[in-house]
Amino acid sequence: MDFEIYGFLFTLILFFSINGATLQQNSTTSPQINSNSVLVALLDSHYTELSELVEKALLLQTLEEAVTKHNITIFAPKNEALERDLDPEFKRFLLEPGNLKSLQSLLLFHMIPNRFQSKNWPKNEQKTRRRSTLCPGEEQIYVFQKSGEKMVSISKIIHPDDIIKPDGIIHGIERVLIPKSVQQDFNTRRSLRSISAVIPQGAPEVDPRTNRLKKKSANPVPAGAPPVLPIYSAMAPGPSLAPAPAPGPGGPHHHFDGETQVKDFIQTLLHYGGYNELADILVNLTSLATEMGRLVSEGYVLTVLAPNDEAMAKLTTDQLSEPGAPEQIMYYHIIPEYQTEESMYNSVRRFGKVKYDTLRLPHKVVAEEADGSVKFGFDEGSAYLVDPDIYTDGRISVQGIDGVLFPVEEIKVAPKAAPVVTKPRRGKLMEVACSMLGC
Ligand SMILES: *[C@@H]1O[C@H](CO)[C@@H](O)[C@H](O)[C@H]1NC(C)=O
Ligand SMILES: *[C@@H]1O[C@H](CO)[C@@H](O)[C@H](O)[C@H]1NC(C)=O
Ligand SMILES: *[C@@H]1O[C@H](CO)[C@@H](O)[C@H](O)[C@H]1NC(C)=O
Repeated sequence: MDFEIYGFLFTLILFFSINGATLQQNSTTSPQINSNSVLVALLDSHYTELSELVEKALLLQTLEEAVTKHNITIFAPKNEALERDLDPEFKRFLLEPGNLKSLQSLLLFHMIPNRFQSKNWPKNEQKTRRRSTLCPGEEQIYVFQKSGEKMVSISKIIHPDDIIKPDGIIHGIERVLIPKSVQQDFNTRRSLRSISAVIPQGAPEVDPRTNRLKKKSANPVPAGAPPVLPIYSAMAPGPSLAPAPAPGPGGPHHHFDGETQVKDFIQTLLHYGGYNELADILVNLTSLATEMGRLVSEGYVLTVLAPNDEAMAKLTTDQLSEPGAPEQIMYYHIIPEYQTEESMYNSVRRFGKVKYDTLRLPHKVVAEEADGSVKFGFDEGSAYLVDPDIYTDGRISVQGIDGVLFPVEEIKVAPKAAPVVTKPRRGKLMEVACSMLGC
């Protein structure tokens, strides 16, 4: 009898303990993470800034699930890149709890869902491999070689195959890769903040007799409407000589915080990489940045054709040292229209050659389709659109080009002043632009 009871209890205990084990197994060890996993290695590695952010971003579970399904390759920015080299304001933005999605996107943008070892890098410098990342959205990263260096998008690989595990690889990289979606979230957040600081316009009134909105005679221009006058009438006279106007109270059309938007796009150029010279000039020529900010504040829109560092490096000191020369060069690269890569590409596809006004009156810049991209200028003085839509916020658009442009008249009249730009090479960036356009 006793035996029967003990036997029963024993079976009961056994039953529960087995059941408990199964329960536990299901709840705690799914997905099964191997101690030899690349994720464990990441958390133990010298990429402490990245691991900390991965934990802060609550991404471990997502990644654990990912490595049970497929290998992952992590492009791990060195600590300094995340610590010191990142704009403090941008980092603060990433760490705000409300921006968790942006932080997650940024981190997942450094990971691809397969195994990509250093031996898989394209050997041929003309080849670029596009890779989808774990970051939601369409944007891809680009793996290629440049001057014998392995690259991923804008960053050099400094420790290829740093950590090799059965379920993934970690490569050490020099710089943080910022997906456009995150950059845009950052810009929008800032614009929203500045817009909300603008004194709201009076709410529309309804006329009780007609039951329609009352026409406001006092302020016929609705907030945000394009200015009535052409941009040239709003520009400071003699762009190269005019001192920056003193920041005064906003005029009647002061609906936008152009200054912040200009600051944003300069910062975006710096984040983007390869446009430091231009960003420098914009920062140094404060009158130019101020003028752009003022125009945007008044409701004008601008497209900046931004020559990359390689192009700027080809400018001679002579070309830059003439009084007002940098301003003149810059004004020729600003189009008083809001154009994106898509809108320009569509126009040149449809119309062949398209002339855009520039802020350097009366000179225009010519664009045409070439090699599945947009080419500006003529022959020797031409430049390809290589980095589309670096910055687009609805009022300012920045398009990266691989040459410095000069008005055609200037090239003819003063051949000495002609740009030293040689035939546009179809470099890596060109291929990138091209592959985006599907040519
Ligand atoms: C544990 O998971 C397996 C397979 O996913 C399932 O068949 C089983 O019913 C689960 N057990 C418990 C106790 O939830
Ligand atoms: C990861 O890659 C290795 C080597 O190619 C392969 O043996 C393994 O099955 C892969 N793991 C997964 C989860 O796909
Ligand atoms: C901008 O100013 C800094 C410091 O004043 C200087 O080092 C840099 O060369 C300047 N850049 C250009 C493009 O003039």
